[in-house]
Amino acid sequence: MDKIKVRDKEFKKAIPCEDIQQAIKKVAEKINRDFEGKETPLFLSILNGAFMFTADVFKELTISSEVSFVKFSSYRGTATSGKVKELIGLNEDLTGRHVIIMEDIVDTGLTINNVVRQIKTYNPKDVKIATMLFKPDACVEEVSLDYVGMEIPNEFIVGYGLDYDGLGRNYKDIYKVVS
Ligand code: IMP
Repeated sequence: MDKIKVRDKEFKKAIPCEDIQQAIKKVAEKINRDFEGKETPLFLSILNGAFMFTADVFKELTISSEVSFVKFSSYRGTATSGKVKELIGLNEDLTGRHVIIMEDIVDTGLTINNVVRQIKTYNPKDVKIATMLFKPDACVEEVSLDYVGMEIPNEFIVGYGLDYDGLGRNYKDIYKVVS
């Protein structure tokens, strides 16, 4: 499918699934290299958007790995609200752990920096960030991203876990808005 409609908007294919999977492999390879011989990292996947990215990276990991899913603010419409709610669903003790945050996309950078700030209050050994997508032109915060699947232009996208008003997460390719 080259074009899809999600609610009132038309989208066209921008990143085919083959390219996504190639990027996933590179991210996983780097994590495997970085954590070889280290204590088991805890992957903290930010729901809802990062579920596909987390699952695909996880399947490529050869190191000892643990995963948990947490939830932060919801995101509605096509403009980032910038408001970040509290972290919920964290049941693990993060003290002294290597934590790798799994995010779907870093846009303005506000969400991820707030996530990091909140995670750091639990005294982990270190916190790394893995994001499938990064929009450098949209980023207004200074962000330190350790693993980036792909950099993309500042356009609204859906698919591969990302939604428009709750829909569109199911597509294995990524689509960008056209109208
Ligand atoms: P940030 O705080 O502006 O970096 O926004 C991060 C969050 O906004 C992501 O976790 C996504 O849920 C959402 N987001 C940002 N850009 C897009 C997009 O193009 N499509 C769908 N969701 C997006």
